[in-house]
Amino acid sequence: MMNTQPVKAIIVGGGHRSLTYAALAEQSPELLQIVGVAEPDPGRRQMIAERFSIPEAHCYETAALLAEAPKFADAVINGTMDHIHVETAVPLLRAGYDMLLEKPFAVNEAQARLLVKTAKDCGRRVMTCFVLRYAPFYRKIKELILNGAVGEILSIQTNEYVSYHHMSTSHVRGKWRNSEQCHSSMLLAKCCHDVDLMMWLMAETQPVLVSSFGCNQQFRPDHAPRNAGTRCIVDCPLVDTCLYSAKRLYLDHPDRWSWYVWDALEHLPNPTLEDKAELLKTSPYGVCAYKSDNNVVDHQTVSVSFASGATGVHCMIGGASAGKRTIHITGTKGEIDGEFEAGRLTLSEIDPSPGCEHRDTVFDLRVENDTHGGGDLDLTRDFLACVRGETPSVSCTDIQDSLAGHLVVFLADRSMECGGVPQPVIL
Ligand SMILES: NC(=O)c1ccc[n+]([C@@H]2O[C@H](COP(=O)([O-])OP(=O)(O)OC[C@H]3O[C@@H](n4cnc5c(N)ncnc54)[C@H](O)[C@@H]3O)[C@@H](O)[C@H]2O)c1
Repeated sequence: MMNTQPVKAIIVGGGHRSLTYAALAEQSPELLQIVGVAEPDPGRRQMIAERFSIPEAHCYETAALLAEAPKFADAVINGTMDHIHVETAVPLLRAGYDMLLEKPFAVNEAQARLLVKTAKDCGRRVMTCFVLRYAPFYRKIKELILNGAVGEILSIQTNEYVSYHHMSTSHVRGKWRNSEQCHSSMLLAKCCHDVDLMMWLMAETQPVLVSSFGCNQQFRPDHAPRNAGTRCIVDCPLVDTCLYSAKRLYLDHPDRWSWYVWDALEHLPNPTLEDKAELLKTSPYGVCAYKSDNNVVDHQTVSVSFASGATGVHCMIGGASAGKRTIHITGTKGEIDGEFEAGRLTLSEIDPSPGCEHRDTVFDLRVENDTHGGGDLDLTRDFLACVRGETPSVSCTDIQDSLAGHLVVFLADRSMECGGVPQPVIL
């Protein structure tokens, strides 16, 4: 018999990502009910308890304490940071919870295999938040491939252009700037989505070899403009003109990336511009973009050889004028070409009729007001269907199915460290 009760879930790690998924409980209470929280920050814990009417008895300081308590929900939404996904997930899977787990689900191969094995041994469903698989744009590409529209795939090329302000906020000054601190490389933190999409779209075959090149070319002291200070609004004469001035990026655009840049002010009900300027004098977001303690690459190219003979290439370029993802797939019968942000996709088929060269079909798959092209809440709905025992969609990011993408990322980074030496993929 079909289960028609809402899935009961606990938020583990009450940051902005968990709350994005948990918001479905407010939109569709018949699908999801938030019944507990595990979050070390007392302010966040209280805010979440109040927002979802969670009793004190179901509020925990950590995932470990929650795992020790008797089970009181079906599932967990795990939105902790990258490097603690596995240590927080394993005890909760053993305690019997299914899990929606943020990407990357692990930060190295040993951890990734441990988590996949634990999920299997415990018989738990774990879905990774590869939200882009759910965006109508990428779903359409998958549908076209499954319908044979381009024939056998010969080549898949994807590009991610990370805008200069996104690059500055996340990977030069922000949480993913230094892999020794956050334990994620640039490719893992930013492009595990793109590599996952490549593996998902190429599911008819398997990756066999990976190589990669990349470096941090721009965001280093020898590229700092002449006379640059160390902190934009403290000692830099270029504060009004530098492309990466924290004043220009954050005070002139105080709402952009606010959940990262003004994180430290979230205890204030309405922080003023003066509060923000004061914070930039001491926070990592106010450091000169060329003199930060970042160590991640600003561009990287990954090449994949597949068992079928097909090849895949993904290029990540950080510091672009605007954020953009593009894709071009060439098959034996035609091609797919598109730009994600524009929601524009063109299928070009080789036309067998006399005189015609090719036939183009254009799809408009724009989605307004969603950071992942419509993917966030559709992924949550699919996870809930999975927990209810229903057949998940073709986008389903089951952890076993998310392993290949993670392994390719780890191997690409290893290859890059070895000057591009190809690395064999052992799934
Ligand atoms: N799917 C996507 O497209 C996407 C986009 C952005 C970020 N992410 C990923 O989402 C994750 C969360 O990012 P965020 O910016 O929301 O992070 P965040 O730092 O805002 O939230 C993480 C929360 O986990 C809490 N926490 C720490 N230790 C804990 C423990 N032992 N038990 C329970 N909670 C604990 C922290 O106090 C914090 O509130 C990251 O892995 C990030 O890479 C995914």
